[in-house]
Amino acid sequence: MEYSIVTNNLSKKFGSFTAVDSINLRIKPGDICAFLGPNGAGKTTAIRILCGILKPSSGNGSILGYDLLRQGEKIKEKLGYMSQKFSLYHDLTVRENLDFYAGIYRLSSKRRQQRIEEMISLAGLAGREDQLVANLSQGFKQRLALSCAIISDPQVIFLDEPTSGVSPAARRSFFNIIQEQANQGKTIIISTHFMDEAERCGQIAFFNQGRLLALNHPEQLKKGILPGRLYRLEAEDPIGILDRLSQLPGVKEVSLHGRSLHILLETGQPAECLKEWAGAEAELIEPTLEDVFLALAKKKEGENYDSNPISN
Ligand SMILES: Nc1ncnc2c1ncn2[C@@H]1O[C@H](COP(=O)(O)OP(=O)(O)OP(=O)(O)O)[C@@H](O)[C@H]1O
Ligand SMILES: [Mg+2]
Repeated sequence: MEYSIVTNNLSKKFGSFTAVDSINLRIKPGDICAFLGPNGAGKTTAIRILCGILKPSSGNGSILGYDLLRQGEKIKEKLGYMSQKFSLYHDLTVRENLDFYAGIYRLSSKRRQQRIEEMISLAGLAGREDQLVANLSQGFKQRLALSCAIISDPQVIFLDEPTSGVSPAARRSFFNIIQEQANQGKTIIISTHFMDEAERCGQIAFFNQGRLLALNHPEQLKKGILPGRLYRLEAEDPIGILDRLSQLPGVKEVSLHGRSLHILLETGQPAECLKEWAGAEAELIEPTLEDVFLALAKKKEGENYDSNPISN
């Protein structure tokens, strides 16, 4: 199976409001795909459809080859889902929570014990098995919630903003666990507002107003969206030279970033010209994912939407 997740023009309407607008996803086993986009962009709604919790209004798709419209129950058995407000039982202990989720997935009693031990070790919770969840720090709660979601060893894992509200160190260790799962060939969808996390994902799906603006590798997105070359120029009077720079041939865009200017040159335009024009050294820089998102969102506003933005 080439793709573990496929959707074709998948849409969800709530009344007359379109929360997910004709999205086409293709995601492979072993991939970590970040769902990125502003609040209300449709990430959670898309995840809930893919998990078989919500019925799409139109379009179709498959998870691990199972049909999203007709085999929802089968799909639910095969995947792990950690919701945006992850659901742990605070008045139960760490082990009792794991045991509860193992029961939901109907693991045999031998397998249940084995998986609970594996999950305690994966989450770094050894020594805390009998602690009440209410008394765990947010970082431990988060890793326990992940362990509960994947206790059945699912091939596809959906994580909806699992890292909000935890420290950078806890986020890193969480991400290492996810990476390990992907290395075993699992497919992982993770929605996040952290660009550093998105950078670590093999695929990024940019959502805006229900639409999928792009789905590609972070590096490809950066290359694709800015077909010129981006330079940073430190100048004594950036505001003073901004207008003049914008007028020069070969300069596509100039923007102010604190005391420096970001200058997008047309391909083939040598950067040495900048030194001549501005009297300062220009440094080649990489666009950030934020630059990419803004450029994509701007591009889509004025043109007819390309219903198949997948470029990998
Ligand atoms: N059950 C519902 N009924 C009506 N509208 C809904 C429902 N669920 C979601 N919406 C709307 O759909 C849009 C997309 O919501 P969704 O939760 O998918 O966004 P999101 O990208 O996950 O945002 P966030 O980053 O804040 O989590 C929002 O405008 C939301 O209000
Ligand atoms: Mg959400």
